Formats: sequence, C-alpha cells, structure tokens
Amino acid sequence: MNGILKGKKGLIFGALDESSIAWKVAEAAVAEGASITLTNAPIAMRMGKINELAAKCNAEVVPADATSIDDINNLLKRCMEIHNGPIDFILHSIGMSPNVRKKKTYTDLSYEFMQKTLDISAVSLHKVLQCAYQMDALNEWGSVVGLTYIAGQRTFPSYGDMADAKATLESISRSFGYHYGVKKKVRVNTISQSPTWTTAGSGVEGFDVFFKYADDMSPLGNASAEACANYCISLFSDYTKMVTMQNLYHDGGFSFTGVSDKVMEMFVEQMKKQ
Ligand SMILES: NC(=O)c1ccc[n+]([C@@H]2O[C@H](COP(=O)([O-])OP(=O)(O)OC[C@H]3O[C@@H](n4cnc5c(N)ncnc54)[C@H](O)[C@@H]3O)[C@@H](O)[C@H]2O)c1
Repeated sequence: MNGILKGKKGLIFGALDESSIAWKVAEAAVAEGASITLTNAPIAMRMGKINELAAKCNAEVVPADATSIDDINNLLKRCMEIHNGPIDFILHSIGMSPNVRKKKTYTDLSYEFMQKTLDISAVSLHKVLQCAYQMDALNEWGSVVGLTYIAGQRTFPSYGDMADAKATLESISRSFGYHYGVKKKVRVNTISQSPTWTTAGSGVEGFDVFFKYADDMSPLGNASAEACANYCISLFSDYTKMVTMQNLYHDGGFSFTGVSDKVMEMFVEQMKKQ
C-alpha cells in the first residue's frame, strides 16, 4: 500500500457482506490511509455484517435509506461531525430491482416495482449529490464514484429494468458532474464493472452463465471486486483530479471485444455436433 488516500475522509454506501464491492473498497480505502464512515439501508443492518467491517475499519456506521432525503441529510450531517468538516470522497454502491428479485421479465414489469428500481438504483445518486451540494459536504477536488454495468449501453435480456436504472445512473453522474465541477471542482464518475459474485450480482437470472460468458469474452478475464476497489481508490486519489463525467469500463476489455477465440471455439464445437 502507498498511502495515496492519506488524510482523506470518505463515505461508503453499500457494504452488505464480505462479497460486496463496497466492502472491498472500504478495506482498500483504509489501507491507503483514509478515514471512512459506512452506511447502508436500515434493513441491511440486520441482514448483513456491516458492524464487522466497521470494527475492522475503525469506522462509524450511520444507517440511511438512500431514497430518503431526511436520511441522507442526517447521514451527511453526522458524517461531517465525525470528520470535523466536509469529506473528500463518496462511493455509491447501491442497486436493487424488485422486478428482477421477483423474476418479472422485461415484457411483464410491475411499474410500481420499476419506480422502486429507479429510485433505489439511480435517483438515489442524484439525491446524495444534491444533498451534499446544498449542504456543502464535499471538499474542493472531492470525488464521487457510482458503480454501474454495461447493460446501460447494450442489451442483456435477463438484466431487466436494472438496465434502465444503470443508463439513468450514468446520465445523472454526467449531468451532476458538470454542476459540481463548476461549483467546487468535485468530480463525478461511474465505473462499469464486470459481473461479480455478490448478493446483488447473483440475483440476476442465469448469473453463472453470464459470468462465464463475460470471462471468456474478455481478453483479461472478468475484473474481480478487489480490482474494482483499487480502481475506485485511484479515482478518490489526487492522481485522477481531471477525470470527471465519465463512464469508465473496468471489465478486462469486454466492452470493446466483438468476439473472442474462446467463444468462437464453443460455436465450432457446437457446429461439429450438428
Ligand atoms: N455484482 C455485479 O455483477 C455488478 C456488476 C456491475 C455493477 N454492479 C453494481 O455494484 C453495486 C454494488 O453491488 P454489489 O454487487 O456489491 O452487491 P451488494 O448486494 O453487496 O450491494 C448492493 C447494496 O445496495 C444496498 N441497498 C439496497 N437498497 C438500498 C437503499 N434503499 N438504501 C441504501 N442502500 C441500499 C444493499 O443493502 C447492498 O449493500 C450496485 O450498484 C451494482 O449494480 C454490480
């Protein structure tokens, strides 16, 4: 470790258990010298293991539903008390679709569920940014990172309405990145991560096949949660000060590969059998 976040203070949303990407980010941020506050939805306090992580990271946990403005304002206020002033980075690592969870296909969505998907997985980023902007909770050159998936650009049928949420999340990051950049040089980016074995990831129908396909398509293979955490750390650091409003692929090359030899070989085998 190189201490590239030494003296920085951050807020991390979305660590549920040790498989969560946010869990790895929290560990890596502390290892790089940051002091952090952890948060998750009140229900995740009961289901997950966030207190275990908090003890390891010497961090306070402040419960907040990321769809509630009151919760976010309380969270940011407490965060500034803990860190004696504005903070330097925020990780938005939040995603949930009741439609995907209830196995409702894209052609048979519940619109009530879809509103929830969009509110939890996308609009929550706007809410966090707007509350921070209005409360002046981020220091100059602060950095906000949201996690996304390539279904925001290309269709993956079983990803359901999460695809629409990811496209919206990426757009919010770009749009708010402009305003926060002008106001305070705060940068806002999304990282588009490979399929990763986590609670949210494995909730997608056929995730094991999905994972294998992406792994075989990517010249470098799928990016792990640990590698994603390291990429987040680089975006929180001063080494990426001029990067903002970007959707950054962290996927071993998947996004720009048309087809790989491995995937072609599978078709060759299949055709031989016909
Ligand atoms: N796992 C993958 O394959 C993958 C790939 C690309 C992007 N992502 C994205 O990474 C992010 C983190 O997901 P993960 O894979 O680590 O899974 P995860 O299940 O560990 O994390 C999702 C988190 O969202 C939190 N959450 C849900 N509703 C919330 C609410 N109302 N308020 C606050 N928090 C709430 C959950 O409690 C959980 O901690 C998500 O945005 C996900 O879409 C995941």
